[in-house]
Formats: sequence, structure tokens, C-alpha cells
Amino acid sequence: MSFAPSTRKGPVGVAVIGAGNISKAYLDNLTVFPDLKVLVIADLFVETAEARAKEYGIAEFGTPELALNHPDVEIIVNLTIPAAHVEVATAAVNAGKHVWTEKPFSLDRESGLGLLKAADAAGIRLGTAPDTFLGAGLQTARRIIERGDIGTPLTGMTTFQTPGPESWHPNPAFLFQHGAGPLFDMGPYYLTALIHTFGSVRKVAAVGSSAKATRIIGSGPKAGEEFAVEVPTHVSAMAQFEGGQSSHSVFSFESPRLRMGFVEITGSEATLSLPDPNYFDGDLKLWRPGAEEPEIIPATGPANGRGMGALDMARAIRSGGPHRATGDLAYHVLDTMVSITESVESGTFVDVTSNAPASVAVAVDWAPETATL
Ligand SMILES: NC(=O)c1ccc[n+]([C@@H]2O[C@H](COP(=O)([O-])OP(=O)(O)OC[C@H]3O[C@@H](n4cnc5c(N)ncnc54)[C@H](O)[C@@H]3O)[C@@H](O)[C@H]2O)c1
Repeated sequence: MSFAPSTRKGPVGVAVIGAGNISKAYLDNLTVFPDLKVLVIADLFVETAEARAKEYGIAEFGTPELALNHPDVEIIVNLTIPAAHVEVATAAVNAGKHVWTEKPFSLDRESGLGLLKAADAAGIRLGTAPDTFLGAGLQTARRIIERGDIGTPLTGMTTFQTPGPESWHPNPAFLFQHGAGPLFDMGPYYLTALIHTFGSVRKVAAVGSSAKATRIIGSGPKAGEEFAVEVPTHVSAMAQFEGGQSSHSVFSFESPRLRMGFVEITGSEATLSLPDPNYFDGDLKLWRPGAEEPEIIPATGPANGRGMGALDMARAIRSGGPHRATGDLAYHVLDTMVSITESVESGTFVDVTSNAPASVAVAVDWAPETATL
């Protein structure tokens, strides 16, 4: 879909809906990028929004309706829980606002496709997390691979394994419900990194399991409360990509041993170890045949953190150009995760029919902290 440049000028007005845990990481950046102006913060619980508004000096706080009806808000940044993503994003589309939405894009294909179609019909941009692939770490990997330093890219391996987030998240139940678990919560980072490298997924096969039926909240006011585990907490998935390349990924909330951020791409000439795809920065390691130690390659380029994708979308709104972390990309990641879940249930390979659009590389001198609008 193509867009005309916006007729408005200057910084792009933003409203955040969802003032919970991750809103802090976003607001640290959204409130300092000069091309954005955070005008409103909203939440179902107005006092939660009020606390964040005071913390960040945001002029207005209140209910989602305040954000949706604000005449100067052009982008809604949707940081609600996964089960509310489509509902809040659709309300924003209906209000004529562009939307940046947290991952996962939706809980199922039907509602995700519905959101894509609604945005398309309204001429609205959808941007979606993760935007970590715009950061220096994964963009440096892209440059290394496109330069041919690993030869022909052939295979990928990723691992995310922890004991689970209930020890540190004060409201962790949603992370163990439909639309979350290690696959839907962390899969978007790892699968986006693989898709960014290999293109669209064509088929998947997976096994999964849950070791415990309930878990206990480990921190905050609800510490000690028990909640139900509704999704697999260990998933082991294989994927084959459009060019014939393949990958193997582990997503687990069941491992006493922490192993996070492991992403390796092996080519015909070398293996490249990428930085953690949940972050924007980090060194890369290049392993050549016979070498005892890898070559360490520092990441180069912007690594400002969460909000880079919303900023990229804001600049594209003004210029009329494409933005990078699109709804179509996030839908393909979602389609892949739903297909992995179906494979866990059926014990068979599942075809993936949606496509991931290619994105334009981020220039090394792309500067989020510079005013350009
Ligand atoms: N916490 C993290 O470290 C982290 C990291 C990356 C991404 N995310 C993603 O960010 C999203 C939010 O996660 P979180 O950890 O901040 O959750 P959270 O539960 O701490 O916060 C969510 C907030 O959204 C509000 N909310 C829920 N439904 C709403 C609705 N319909 N309208 C308005 N407000 C609503 C809640 O009241 C709450 O304040 C999730 O999709 C999660 O996957 C979280």
C-alpha cells in the first residue's frame, strides 16, 4: 500500500494507550525524539495513566477515548495486553489514527487479517513491534550478510529459555494465556530476526509441552497468588523459508538455565552470531572454518531502543515513504506462530501462506535524536 505525504507539518502527535510495565521503556524515548510529541497517555485505569503522565510531563491523561478523539494525535501507540491489541488498534483505525501496536499483532489470523483490511480500507498505517530489527545489532548483521561475508545464508538457530517471567513481572498471568507463552511473547523477536534474514516462512513443524498447570506470582502486590498456565511453556520449532533455507528455534519458560538472545545464521563460508534480537545493540561474532576464536564485530548505527519503529513510521507519515516495521510483516510473524501452534497440536507440518514484505535497510547515520520534521 502507498501513502501520500501528510499535509501536517512538524513533530507528529502521539498518544500512548496502555500505561503498564513497558510504557516506561517507550516513553524514555518517545518523549525525547524531537520528531514526536507525546500529547496524551491513556489507560483503562486512569490513575495508572496519571502516574505515567506526571513521571514524563505529558500534558493530558485519561481514558482511551481521550486519546482517540484528540485532534492533534496522529499515532496511537498501543501498549495494552495482547488480548486487547486488535480491539484498541481497530478503534484507532476507526478514529482515523495511524497505529503502532505491541506484539503479538493479534491472537489469531482472522482478527489480524481483519485489522489489516480495516487499515488498508481507511488508508491508515499499521506499525508493529518488534522494532529491534531496526537497531544497530540486527542492521549490522544484515549488512554483513548482504556483503557476502558468510557466503550463501543457509540455516538459522535460535534459543530463548528462562524459568519464566512470573518471578519478575507483577501481573504475569497474561503471559501464560492464549496469545502469549514463550512462543507468542518472545517468538516475534526471534522469528522477525530469521524472516529479516531469510524472507517468508513457507512451512513449520513443532512439538510443545507444559510442565506445570499453575504458576505463582513472584513479585509485586500479588506475590504468592497462583494462576493457570493455558499454553505450552516449551516449544521446539523448525521452519523452512521461501529460498529453501531452514531454522530451528527453542522457546521455553521451563529452563532453570538462562539462555537468551541466541541467534546464529550459518552460511556457506562462515557462521554469524547475532546480538539478542530483543535488544537494539550488541557485538556480533563471525566464526570462520578452522578459526579457534571468532572475529568480534561491534554493531554500528542507531540503537536508541523501543520507539524507533514508531519514529520511523512518523517520519514516513510526513514524507509519504514506506515505514519498516509494518503490519504485514507482523501478520506474517503471527501467521507463523499460529502455524507452529497448529503443528504442536496436529503433529504435522503446517504450510504458511502469508508473505513478509522486504524492508529498506536503516542507514548507519539514521539519527532518532535529530529533528527532521
Ligand atoms: N513488559 C515487558 O518487558 C514487555 C517488553 C516488550 C513488549 N511487551 C509487550 O507490551 C504489551 C504490554 O505489556 P506490559 O508488560 O506493559 O503489560 P502490563 O499489564 O504491565 O500493562 C498493560 C496496560 O494496558 C492497560 N490496558 C489493558 N487493556 C486495555 C484497554 N483495552 N484499553 C486501555 N488500556 C488497557 C492495562 O490497564 C495496563 O496498564 C504486551 O503486548 C507485551 O507483550 C512487554
